[in-house]
Amino acid sequence: MRAHEAGALHGNLGFRGPDWLSTPTDVNALFGPLWPVTVRRGADGALAVGGVDVRDIAAEYGTPAYVFDDADFRTRCRDFREAFAGADVYYAAKAFCAKAVLRVVAEEGLHVDVCTGGELAVALAAGVPAALIKVHGNNKSVAELTRAMRAGVGCIVVDSFDEITRLADLARSLGVRPRVMVRVTVGVEAHTHEFIATAHEDQKFGFSLGSGRAFEAVAQILREDVLELIGLHSHIGSQIFDTSGFEISARRVMGLQDEIRAEFGVELPEVDLGGGFGIAYTTQDDPATPGDLAGRMFKIVEQECAARSLSVPHVSIEPGRALVGPSMFTLYEVGTVKDVDGIRTYVSVDGGMSDNIRTALYDATYSATLANRASEAGPMLARVVGKHCEAGDIVVKDEFLPADLRPGDLVAVPGTGAYCRSMASNYNHVPRPPVIAVSDGKARVIVRRETEEDLLSLDVG
Ligand SMILES: Cc1ncc(COP(=O)(O)O)c(C=O)c1O
Repeated sequence: MRAHEAGALHGNLGFRGPDWLSTPTDVNALFGPLWPVTVRRGADGALAVGGVDVRDIAAEYGTPAYVFDDADFRTRCRDFREAFAGADVYYAAKAFCAKAVLRVVAEEGLHVDVCTGGELAVALAAGVPAALIKVHGNNKSVAELTRAMRAGVGCIVVDSFDEITRLADLARSLGVRPRVMVRVTVGVEAHTHEFIATAHEDQKFGFSLGSGRAFEAVAQILREDVLELIGLHSHIGSQIFDTSGFEISARRVMGLQDEIRAEFGVELPEVDLGGGFGIAYTTQDDPATPGDLAGRMFKIVEQECAARSLSVPHVSIEPGRALVGPSMFTLYEVGTVKDVDGIRTYVSVDGGMSDNIRTALYDATYSATLANRASEAGPMLARVVGKHCEAGDIVVKDEFLPADLRPGDLVAVPGTGAYCRSMASNYNHVPRPPVIAVSDGKARVIVRRETEEDLLSLDVG
């Protein structure tokens, strides 16, 4: 296999010859939607994003660093906004929650979904109007519910019978009437990793449709004058490519809507079909476009409504990963390169499972590329690993990287915008990396790097 063909297997952009690099190269034109839209490989082989050379980012801000392409994120927000015109698009803040990002979300006309008091605090601090915020969670505390209602959030998605009682009592004592949705577990086996599938019966979220619990929840809420039931909510899981799951889910939710009308004579005005749209982590992945998704989802809802003579409800969706995932990549510096004879080469970088737990947690697949130079060396089968004291500390399981990779080189891993910084930890007392936003030739810190002092300041013993 020729070097560039090997690289193309996973989206590696690291080792084509100089002839190929005579002009800056639009990497996505060659390798699909793996990289933020402004990423280019320059004539000397180094990557630039938002007009900023990654070597300058590394020199100024250090590594590892998450690099966030402003233009890419805005483009994705607009694409979803336009494709889902007439519906509400909620950005699922759990994917990556930072004030700068939530401000862009609001500027681009999207709403925000949060699932903890912490995420709510960031959204409010970013200036997102409370009415545009939807609150999730299977175990919201009294303090979180109180805060959400005092802030006047647009909707609280109810997840258990305990919560219905808790919320009604709190609403009475606060003298408010929150708008609520019922989270319905529709019984779809989403084709994704077990830990990110959320609509099969045996899991913690929502009210089961099949057992009748969802219907009972609706009945209980309708009896509570202090709660305004506005609709049904379903989220089947995450990183899903097979859109039939969304269609089945929409069909089942509309079936429940029909039963509710038959029993109570009401048609709930809204339906939220959740998020979960898959993105490309390697060149093998072929995600649906927002336009495809919108077309299919609207069609199913409209067809179901027509078949059951229901009015078409107002639709909302909640993508997280599909909005922010491809907008970031992680920049690492290579520390050691260790050949395990005849098997593979271990490339150790200066981060690892503390900045990207997804490989260890979900068996996620990533790709990587040499980022600071060109190389004409042949490919070597590499495993990109971190610096943590765990054998499972893997960032990229298999990737072809150039055989002359050496300590001091920069490696970039695309698709780390979602669930990497937000799931980052301080394992082994490693401070979490910064998020550096780039646009128009300028870089700025939107989340600063943690320091050892930050970590020590928590240790008051
Ligand atoms: C209720 C809900 N909505 C939306 C999302 C966003 O999912 P994704 O980032 O895959 O689009 C999640 C993620 O788990 C979720 O639990």
